[in-house]
Amino acid sequence: MKRVLVTGGAGSIGSYVCDELVRRGHQVIALDNGPSLKVEHLFDSGRFQFVQDSVLVAEVVERLVSRCDIVIHLAAIADPKRYVNEPLNVLNVNLKGSLNLLDFCSRMGKRFVFASTSEVCGKNPNVPWDEEADRVLGPPSINRWCYSTGKALIEHYCYAYGQQEGLPFVIMRFFNVYGPRCDDLGQGRVIPIFLEKFLRGEPVVVHGDGKQTRCFTYIEDTAQAVVELALSEAALGQCFNVGSDRETSILELAQLMKKVGGFDNPIVFKPHREVFGDSYEDIPRRIPDVSRIKRVIGWEATTPLEEGLKKTIDFYRKY
Ligand SMILES: NC(=O)c1ccc[n+]([C@@H]2O[C@H](COP(=O)([O-])OP(=O)(O)OC[C@H]3O[C@@H](n4cnc5c(N)ncnc54)[C@H](O)[C@@H]3O)[C@@H](O)[C@H]2O)c1
Repeated sequence: MKRVLVTGGAGSIGSYVCDELVRRGHQVIALDNGPSLKVEHLFDSGRFQFVQDSVLVAEVVERLVSRCDIVIHLAAIADPKRYVNEPLNVLNVNLKGSLNLLDFCSRMGKRFVFASTSEVCGKNPNVPWDEEADRVLGPPSINRWCYSTGKALIEHYCYAYGQQEGLPFVIMRFFNVYGPRCDDLGQGRVIPIFLEKFLRGEPVVVHGDGKQTRCFTYIEDTAQAVVELALSEAALGQCFNVGSDRETSILELAQLMKKVGGFDNPIVFKPHREVFGDSYEDIPRRIPDVSRIKRVIGWEATTPLEEGLKKTIDFYRKY
């Protein structure tokens, strides 16, 4: 039995990670400054504690890190709209919060498992990306890149703390996680945004020509990978792509959701610039090379998109 601190533990991925850890008999503390709604079902498990506070508060982080064996650091501002509108908050939480955790993990010799992102590779056109793929970004004057840069900098810190201070760490790069309990309808990422429109009977708006693709990864598959990586000795000191390698265009996604949910809304198109303004740049393709994670821990995403979408749509219909 391990004692695990999950920052961002009341978030979408975090709540599933807490579920999986508790299910496997581990003792979990979730640190999150957001509401506890997604984890309240764990309150009576006897193996779960929720602390509503910020990763920016050093005393809190120090106290909680000292009480655990492993830190899974998922807390972040991870909403694309907020990269554009609140770059300062994004940088503060994603950098300063992570540095707080790294510092205490390093001093106390605790394992640090860091949630990074496929965004780190930016607009590198050479897909699929393995973990050593180049980072191809726009300039810092474009807010959109602050999230990618913040995450990449913390990856650098992981390697630096590992090399100079002996920090045990694992880096995970997630690729478009979706499922129940992800974002409020209409908020954040593409699937909840489309779903809100479908459920309201309104036109579903595809940005650009809809040919941009993503690899959608079901949230329970993702949570299993996180827990396996966090507990694995073989994973230490390495970075892993955590994702499905099935590529789906945004237009196909809209059409598939329409079919799976039995909806009859029209699908319409809108230029990116009209939606996000001048400081947003979309990425045409984002595909992981998942050979490393398969080789090291034997994990692969197994939930077919149709099945994951069905579970997601059913969840939000009852919501
Ligand atoms: N969902 C994805 O597709 C995806 C893709 C790539 C990377 N990631 C990364 O995975 C992690 C989890 O993402 P998610 O999709 O579950 O996002 P989420 O927004 O659902 O969860 C993040 C959680 O962090 C919490 N948080 C924010 N600021 C905090 C602070 N100062 N102190 C404590 N808690 C704070 C939020 O309240 C939220 O519950 C993030 O680090 C994100 O960058 C997610």
